[in-house]
Amino acid sequence: MISSESLSNSPETQNSVQKKITLLGSTGSIGLNTLDIIRQFPQKFRIEALSCRNSIESLSEQIKEFKPRLVCVDTAKQASELRESFRNGNSGPETEFVWSTEGLKQISSDPEVDLVVAGIVGAAGLEPTFAAVEAGKIVAVANKEPLVMAGELFIQTAKKTGAKLLPTDSEHNAIFQALHDEPPERIARLILTASGGPFRDLPLDEFEKITLAEALNHPNWEMGRKITIDSATMMNKGLEIIEAHWLFNTPVDKIDVLMQRESIIHSMVEFIDGSFLAQMGLPDMRVPIAYCLGWPERLPLKIPRLDPVSLNALHFEAIDEQRFPCLPLSLKAAKQGGGAPAVLNGANEKVVAAFLNEEIRFVDIAKILASVMQDLDETLQQTAQDSLADIPDFLLKIKTLEDALQADQWGREQAGKVLKHVH
Ligand SMILES: NC(=O)c1ccc[n+]([C@@H]2O[C@H](COP(=O)([O-])OP(=O)(O)OC[C@H]3O[C@@H](n4cnc5c(N)ncnc54)[C@H](OP(=O)(O)O)[C@@H]3O)[C@@H](O)[C@H]2O)c1
Repeated sequence: MISSESLSNSPETQNSVQKKITLLGSTGSIGLNTLDIIRQFPQKFRIEALSCRNSIESLSEQIKEFKPRLVCVDTAKQASELRESFRNGNSGPETEFVWSTEGLKQISSDPEVDLVVAGIVGAAGLEPTFAAVEAGKIVAVANKEPLVMAGELFIQTAKKTGAKLLPTDSEHNAIFQALHDEPPERIARLILTASGGPFRDLPLDEFEKITLAEALNHPNWEMGRKITIDSATMMNKGLEIIEAHWLFNTPVDKIDVLMQRESIIHSMVEFIDGSFLAQMGLPDMRVPIAYCLGWPERLPLKIPRLDPVSLNALHFEAIDEQRFPCLPLSLKAAKQGGGAPAVLNGANEKVVAAFLNEEIRFVDIAKILASVMQDLDETLQQTAQDSLADIPDFLLKIKTLEDALQADQWGREQAGKVLKHVH
């Protein structure tokens, strides 16, 4: 949670000392945008650590350019090959190569690091992002899935360790900027905006025929494949509701979603006195990322600027839930709490991966997720009727990271069972 105390209690070193950064997921969309900003401000930032899973070629180029002290990859074999290639006169820096989740946790909690950019996609970011929070780092949170899975644990741990969770998702960053020092009791409503994705106007009877290429063709944003599909189904907005609930200490029923076709208004806060504050700009992830890297300063970014005169109109529309059934599903999970968000998130990752592999149709995504959430309801009801003690703890409450991982796994397994029948 970003409290007024945490905002005013800013690090005093910001102006004078280079911030040392671990960039988790440096080869992805968030990673590349982050490096673009760091290139613009070499005096202000130094890359201490980079990570990826498969994109070794792109990572090698980054190592040559940014000369990190630490690099994390997926396997011991990748680490040893990279070590070898940089040893063989590749004009490489003195870099330590680590691997796996343990390696990611190491680079997230390294004592030299000031700020961790959480740019891994999905539940894979849970443990490394949590390690950064446990180590009391400033954490730029783009990777929303860990907060969806274990939001309460993140917020409580950050309170204990003094870690700062800086909202980097464009919508949450907009709210962060608009809220500034205002306490949660002055919030009447948080309004997350959504572009509506590629299918906002597609006739409903054409949804059955949607192709992967069409789903990956977002009208306003260029992002990784998983979040692009989540944007097309609007699951992304559902995950964002849960993320906003934790980041801004705001009840789910005070968080609304509106379609904003142009993606110029990145989100809004309605205060109890009827004032609305919105943040606007071109859809460019470098703005929210730079806000978090520079925080509490603003950086003089060199990027294309919005010309308000060029805006003919800004459109706001209610969301059609029939068109986007993943949104009500995620809203239900958000209200239910306990293990439901982690179950939904795990199931969604499994199902989206199947869609990306062209194993299922676009319309199957929501159907399978609805079936998994139905399974969850029945499990909770049946077990409750038999004996409370039989309900797996992780479905009732996420108290530990292990609970979050188990709930995630439960969701994936249930989705896997339904997937078998769809194939
Ligand atoms: N992209 C955006 O504009 C945007 C906006 C708001 C929020 N976000 C959030 O930010 C996160 C990252 O999104 P993205 O679009 O940047 O994703 P992306 O382009 O797919 O990049 C993901 C990054 O994470 C690495 N990675 C993937 N799976 C991993 C695993 N199992 N273990 C370790 N590393 C792994 C990837 O490495 P490889 O390249 O080797 O696969 C890559 O560096 C997501 O949670 C998304 O919801 C993104």
